[in-house]
Order: sequence, then C-alpha cells, then structure tokens
Amino acid sequence: MAFITRTAAQLRSEISRRGPADNSVALVPTMGALHEGHAALVSQAREENDLVVVSIFVNPLQFENLGDCEDYRNYPRQLDQDVALLSELGADIVFAPDTEAMYPDGQPMVWVRTGRLGDRLEGASRPGHFDGVATVVAKLFHLCRPDRAYFGQKDAQQVAVINRMVADLDFDVEVVPVPIIRAADGLAESSRNQRLSSTDRQHALALSQALFTLRDRAVAGQPLRSGEISAQLRTTAGVTLDHLEIVDPATLEPLADETALGRPALALVAAQVGPVRLIDNLRLEPPAAS
Ligand code: PAF
Repeated sequence: MAFITRTAAQLRSEISRRGPADNSVALVPTMGALHEGHAALVSQAREENDLVVVSIFVNPLQFENLGDCEDYRNYPRQLDQDVALLSELGADIVFAPDTEAMYPDGQPMVWVRTGRLGDRLEGASRPGHFDGVATVVAKLFHLCRPDRAYFGQKDAQQVAVINRMVADLDFDVEVVPVPIIRAADGLAESSRNQRLSSTDRQHALALSQALFTLRDRAVAGQPLRSGEISAQLRTTAGVTLDHLEIVDPATLEPLADETALGRPALALVAAQVGPVRLIDNLRLEPPAAS
C-alpha cells in the first residue's frame, strides 16, 4: 500500500526514512482523478527508480480566477480510488497536501513567470495557466527533490514550459516526457474522452488524422501545407478548430518555413469537439538522410 503524506515535513521525513541518499527518487506530479495516461507515467517511473512519489494536488493557481471558478470546484477529487490504483502500480509515497499546506498565506506572492512560452497556444485561451503550473511544479521539485520527474507528452506545452524552467532556473532534475497513449483508432487517450458521444468521437478522429497527414508529409520530404489542413479542419462537422500549428519543440515558436523539414518539429492541435476541448500533438521527423 502506498504511504500517504499530507505535509511537506511528512513527505521529507518519509523520503529520507526510506533509504540511503543514493536511492533514485521519481516524482509524478498529478491533480488526481487518475486514468491510463497517469498509469503509464507511474509505471515508467516505477521501472526506472528506487522510490516513486506521486503528488495529488488540485492546484488553484492554474485555474481561472486562481481557483474561484466552477472548473476548479467541480474538478473530480477521488483520493481513495487514486491511492488504490497507485498502490497497485507500485508507487511508494502519495503526497496529497491540502491547499492550506501548499499555500499557507492563501497564494504565493512570488511566482514563476513563463513569459511567451506560456502565453501562446493553450496559454492564449487560459491566461496565467502555465505560470500557475510552473509555480506549483517548482514547489513540488523543492519539496520532493526528485532525480527524475515524469510528465505526459500529451500536454506538450506543459513539458516545454517545465523543461525551460528546469534549464533557466537550474533545477537538478531530469524531466522525462512519457509518450501519448492512443486508442486503436488514433484518438489520444484523455479523461475528457469519456464525455464524447460516439458521434463526437468519430468527429474527434479528424484531429489525429490531421497530425498523421503532417507526419507523413514531413517524413516524405513534402511541403507540410498546414494551412490547407487547418482549412479542412475548419469545415469538418462537429469540430471547432482553435489552432493547428507546427512549431519548434523547445521554444514552441512557429516554423518559419514549411516547405521541407530540416530538423524535427512538433505539430500541435486544439479544438472543441462536442462538450470538450481536445488537444493532441505529434513529433514530425525530417526525411531520413540517405
Ligand atoms: O498536468 C497536471 O496534472 C498539472 O498541470 C500538474 C503538472 C500536476 C501541475 O499541477
């Protein structure tokens, strides 16, 4: 059974009690309501480390109005169910602080600013979201002092923001992106998929298909013509496109030239399908050198 800690002091003493200082420690930060995607993160962390810590904290700072919103209040909280799953997956410690334990003064006065990296793409529809993410992840890194931290590649912008925070602020941690899990029909797994009707689900497949088309064009050395694919998505029944962009994987800046890929790039898509906003992404590789 995974051991539950509620405060920073308990977490630290439990980590140091568990073993010698040379044990490798993994952190899997989550907001709970765990699904298959989280299970993949925990399983990989389990294989690669001596001690696996999973944090479960619904972080108000990354929600609209610092959590004074329906989305935050209605966010599913199911600690017992999550701890049972984490125990099955072999997690050692669950860190599940309440808001008071994380932010004793209500909210921090000093935040991590993610700048242009956090303002674009998903950040454009959720102002301040990535500052809230980076701030809580910075705190979790300090509290847990992991050797490795695991994040799902499905949230590609989050991975880019955390990578950049680690580089810019000299955190001594390896960020491990864990690949997207796709259903047999290509749809990227997400807890939000549960809210898609079977018709919505059929419509949603247009997103992964758009990414697969771009991947095939990239590897064949053809012009990517993402504008053409965006135009198709804009006329796809049931899909309201927010963005389809091809960007540099580290800076998330749009590619200046889509005629032929000279180095890997990332295609990102976000759209409203039925009641949910879906995101997906795929790495685009240039043609193999002959
Ligand atoms: O991806 C999430 O669940 C959250 O953004 C994270 C990384 C746990 C920070 O609250």
